Amino acid sequence: MTPSTASAAGRKTTAAMRGQKSSVPIVALTAYTAPVARLLDPHVDILLVGDSLGMVLYGMDSTLPVTLEMMIAHGAAVVRASQQALVVVDMPFGSYQAAPRAAFAACARVLKETGCQAVKIEGGAEMEETIAFLLRRGIPVMGHVALTPQHVNVFGGYRYQGRTPAERAKILEDARAVERAGAFAVVLEAVEETLAREITAALSIPTIGIGASPGCDGQVLVSDDMLGLTPSPPRFAKQYAAIGETISKAATQYAEEVRAGRFPGPEHCFTGDKRK
Ligand code: KIV
Repeated sequence: MTPSTASAAGRKTTAAMRGQKSSVPIVALTAYTAPVARLLDPHVDILLVGDSLGMVLYGMDSTLPVTLEMMIAHGAAVVRASQQALVVVDMPFGSYQAAPRAAFAACARVLKETGCQAVKIEGGAEMEETIAFLLRRGIPVMGHVALTPQHVNVFGGYRYQGRTPAERAKILEDARAVERAGAFAVVLEAVEETLAREITAALSIPTIGIGASPGCDGQVLVSDDMLGLTPSPPRFAKQYAAIGETISKAATQYAEEVRAGRFPGPEHCFTGDKRK
């Protein structure tokens, strides 16, 4: 994998994002490929190369099998195809949890080989030392607390978080730990609204919600969910387009035309003087 040649000049910065608190909400979407990143880039503050790509693009059952190489390949594609958004790449399961030094080695590869500006790391208090270690060594981090999909085997599913007072207190403490460590923003996933509002009020860094109410400082969605490409999207994901239907219709029409001998037509053939 060769390093991305895209320049970081002109992109939104983690420093600017840190200050975007209680003002205009931060707009973020996931992107995994160059064509989608190109289309989304003009409209968003953050393009998140989420490890959700394992499930969304590769049909995996969870995000756990996603590798560092996959994140680097998709991260580099998104950086090459975008110009103004801050690009954040998710660190995959197993690449950062063991120890701060191992996390640094993996994150440094991601920054060097993709050209992205920051990484995202799941976890709260248990990741505080690692996030601070990374930041001191030049790696900006976005946190991710509450429903952290890499903990699916501990949670026993993808349920919304903060059902008991003890769970709520832990999520708040996790968000505070991520802030103390120096993260520039934190994703709150699948959090009950009053808790999301409490955390947002308690932190000086922006909260970016997914299934966490409008009480956050920004919103992120998995782009395939909002574009209508996911067969059963989560309840919190609003569908803004029906790309899945468009693809089905196009494939139906193509198959009909090929079977009926209507495609390719003369305009699609290299015949006579139209050989170019
Ligand atoms: O992997 C991902 O897409 C994410 C978002 C759901 C925040 O982490």
